[in-house]
Amino acid sequence: MYDFKIAAADKATLYADLLAALDGLTSGETDPIANMANAAALIWETLPDLNWAGFYRNVGGELVLGPFQGRAACIRIPFGKGVCGAAAETRQVQRVEDVHAFPGHIACDAASQSELVVPIIGANGELIAVLDLDSPQKARFDAEDEAGCVKLCELLANRI
Ligand code: SME
Repeated sequence: MYDFKIAAADKATLYADLLAALDGLTSGETDPIANMANAAALIWETLPDLNWAGFYRNVGGELVLGPFQGRAACIRIPFGKGVCGAAAETRQVQRVEDVHAFPGHIACDAASQSELVVPIIGANGELIAVLDLDSPQKARFDAEDEAGCVKLCELLANRI
C-alpha cells in the first residue's frame, strides 16, 4: 500500500513533497502507463480543488486520452485544438484563468473553470504527452503551481 499524506503549509513545500513522492513512486518502473496512472492518482490526491487530473499522449501527432482521475473525457484532441492542443502545438505551458474565454476550449467536464496544461518533452526533443489539470475554480493555478507542475513533468519525461 502506498500512503502519501502530503499536507504542506505552503505551495513550495507542497510541490517539493509531491515531487519526492512521485520520484519514489515511479523510480525503478519503466512502464509508461503504470507511471502515468500513479502520477495522476498522486496529483489528484495531493492538489486541492481539481475536477480532472491526467494525461493526453502524443500518438502519431494526435493527443489521445491517457491515465487520469476525474470524469470520463474526450478521447482524441487534434494538435492546436483547445487548451491541451495548444500546449501540444506550441510546446508551451498553457495556464488559463478562465477556460470559457479560451478560443476553442473543449468542455469535457462542464465544471471546469480554469486549467493548467504542461507539455512533457522527451530527451530527443519529442512531445511525449501533456499533463492536464482542470479546476472548478476560476484562476485556480498560479505561477507556483506552474513551476511545480513543470518540475513534475521534467521528472516524468524520463519515466513515461
Ligand atoms: N479542456 C481540455 C480538454 C481535456 S479535458 O479538460 C479533460 C482542453 O480544452 O484542452
